[in-house]
Amino acid sequence: MIGRLNHVAIAVPDLEAAAAQYRDVLGAKVNSPQDEPDHGVTVVFIELPNTKIELLYPLGENSPIQGFLDKNPSGGIHHICYEVDDILAARDQLQASGARVLGSGEPKIGAHGKPVLFLHPKDFTGTLVELEQV
Ligand code: CO
Repeated sequence: MIGRLNHVAIAVPDLEAAAAQYRDVLGAKVNSPQDEPDHGVTVVFIELPNTKIELLYPLGENSPIQGFLDKNPSGGIHHICYEVDDILAARDQLQASGARVLGSGEPKIGAHGKPVLFLHPKDFTGTLVELEQV
């Protein structure tokens, strides 16, 4: 069902410092910050030859990553995103096998303008999994 690794998302306490580290120390192609008010985050995309890294920083009140940063003050891997061809078929198959889909269960438009869903980390060995239809 799952295809390519679309991105690994890392929550960071200092977006500018993290972006500069990827650009200047690791020599990666780092894009400008993008506010995603619908998701409560500011995102910096880093393009690697085979996948992307998404640096996440809280935006506004009640950001969904604030709690994660409170527990992990130096930052950490927040979720991984796999590509799927058909997100509704993937959701139905996962729910039939007992996996929990977060929120309403209906796909939302993600940071790349494509439909996404999140799966409960307790059902996937402690990892928050995002599915993106490509
Ligand atoms: Co993501």
